[in-house]
Amino acid sequence: MTDFQIAPSILSADFARLGEEVDNVLASGADIVHFDVMDNHYVPNLTIGPMVCEALRNHGITAPIDVHLMIKPVDSLIPDFAKAGATYITFHPEASEHIDRTLQLIQQHGCKAGLVFNPATTLDILEYMIDRVDMILLMSVNPGFGGQRFIPSTLEKLRKAKQMITQSGRNIRLEVDGGVKIDNIAEIASAGADTFVAGSAIFGAKNDTDPNRYNTVIAEIRHQLSQFTSCPSVK
Ligand code: DX5
Ligand code: ZN
Repeated sequence: MTDFQIAPSILSADFARLGEEVDNVLASGADIVHFDVMDNHYVPNLTIGPMVCEALRNHGITAPIDVHLMIKPVDSLIPDFAKAGATYITFHPEASEHIDRTLQLIQQHGCKAGLVFNPATTLDILEYMIDRVDMILLMSVNPGFGGQRFIPSTLEKLRKAKQMITQSGRNIRLEVDGGVKIDNIAEIASAGADTFVAGSAIFGAKNDTDPNRYNTVIAEIRHQLSQFTSCPSVK
């Protein structure tokens, strides 16, 4: 059975009630918390840092927190995010001068490490780095904003990444981020993804009459994924 994980991106949450929003998506069946960090330098937007991650832990969030760094430089904030309770820390190779060193730094601080590939970035770097990574994240939009449209060439790239993971024999999560919706998630899963970031699709679908307000949308996502009882084959 493929272990699919649903990772709501809190970028689309109501920041004035962040703890409650995260409690709600987790109570509604989400698996991990996707935490988008933007610096208005590597990407043209500005979001949240380690203090907010720590605040979520202090609020009582025990689910894995998946910190997606869209910042440059990367290294100086890694110890801070590890201390703040990050589980995964992923970064864009373009944002680090020494990618192998950054991956090691993340792992030395007790977190799982991942590389994030922009739509135009090739997977070539994995030829030498695949033994180091715990997660591969393919961007299916250009980083910086929620609510964009899924870029279809990501499907081919997912198949390629999945093949590389299978060949490595390692236990590496394959995550996809951007434009993931109920109506395209099955196709994305069949291309090999096992971890699905969804921001606007989940937080935009709130049902105020339901105490677990994201139940319906997360149940629909699970239903779409339930057709895969074993790991999708790689073409
Ligand atoms: C974009 C972020 C995403 C974003 C996804 O740079 O990395 O995590 O929140 O949002 P949706 O699911 O709305 O495309
Ligand atoms: Zn993200």
